Amino acid sequence: MSTEQTLREAATNRDFRIGAALAARALRSDPSYWKAARNEFNAVTPENALKMGPLRPSPHTYDFTDADAIVDFGRENDMYVRGHTLVWHNQKPEWFQAWDYTDDQLRKFLRDHIHTVVGRYRSSIDAWDVVNEAVADDGTLRETVWYDALGEEYLDLAFQWAREVNPEADLYYNDYGADAINEKSDAIYDLLERLLERDVPIDGVGLQFHALAGRPDPESVAENIRRFQDLGLDVQITEMDVANAVDDQPEDPLAEQADYYREIVEVCLETDCDTLVTWGVHDGSTWLRNFKDFSKRYTDDPLLFDDGYEPKPAYDAVKGALSGTDRS
Ligand code: XIL
Repeated sequence: MSTEQTLREAATNRDFRIGAALAARALRSDPSYWKAARNEFNAVTPENALKMGPLRPSPHTYDFTDADAIVDFGRENDMYVRGHTLVWHNQKPEWFQAWDYTDDQLRKFLRDHIHTVVGRYRSSIDAWDVVNEAVADDGTLRETVWYDALGEEYLDLAFQWAREVNPEADLYYNDYGADAINEKSDAIYDLLERLLERDVPIDGVGLQFHALAGRPDPESVAENIRRFQDLGLDVQITEMDVANAVDDQPEDPLAEQADYYREIVEVCLETDCDTLVTWGVHDGSTWLRNFKDFSKRYTDDPLLFDDGYEPKPAYDAVKGALSGTDRS
């Protein structure tokens, strides 16, 4: 038996949460996936199962099969469970396209959705990404079906409805491209400040951290985390992966990837950002292989374990940073 500690143990010893996004199908069919998820991580996020599309096969029905499987797996194995996501412009149900709703009907639909889903997992989901990606890349509020029908107030309502049914869960705003100080994170900062002024029950901000080609500057990431914390919000890294543009790769990609993961874990430790979720268990399950044309644009090995579930240099770097044995 190996005496070396796992990543999960290193994180737990440090009061840190290291997580992975999970898919129900892989949990059911692949024992290596199941074991890596359970042994190496102490936090999980369903990658797709809690999104509105998968959950709502028709206007009046819910299908919780996959979501339950992942949430139960997390609970049974003593993991922190993040719920992702209640309000988003993507992955809406297909029938939504043909639905000719009034603003009021949409409001009622969203209220029922949030009440039902948050209510079902009242005792099993620790934190919710209540609203995902509400800000466009230029910093304006994204024009989504929710915004068009309800205006900026849709955010207030979503957080209030979630709080009504689960006063215990931490409620997050989650977004991409806002990991460091930039135009988008400035806009998110302003938005969250407005929500807080209106007493909207929001507890934290999730930085997705898909470092697919760029590498947000760690110092700027730390400064960004601190300014949100100064508003009274918790900050978590919610969907991290580290890839490269296919046509612009470093000389030693695995070493560079490991260094970057380590730097970001160190930023987390410095700033008391105590949760970092990677967007998948192993390279074989990364979304970059299946999403739009991403496999043509980005390298497809962004995670801590390789296709055969062998730990990569990035795994050792994260574990080393957490156990304090590998500081650069
Ligand atoms: C991605 C999933 O990983 C894919 O399987 C799916 O096809 C599309 O969505 N930002 C988010 C996540 O908030 O929900 C997205 O997940 C990745 C980008």
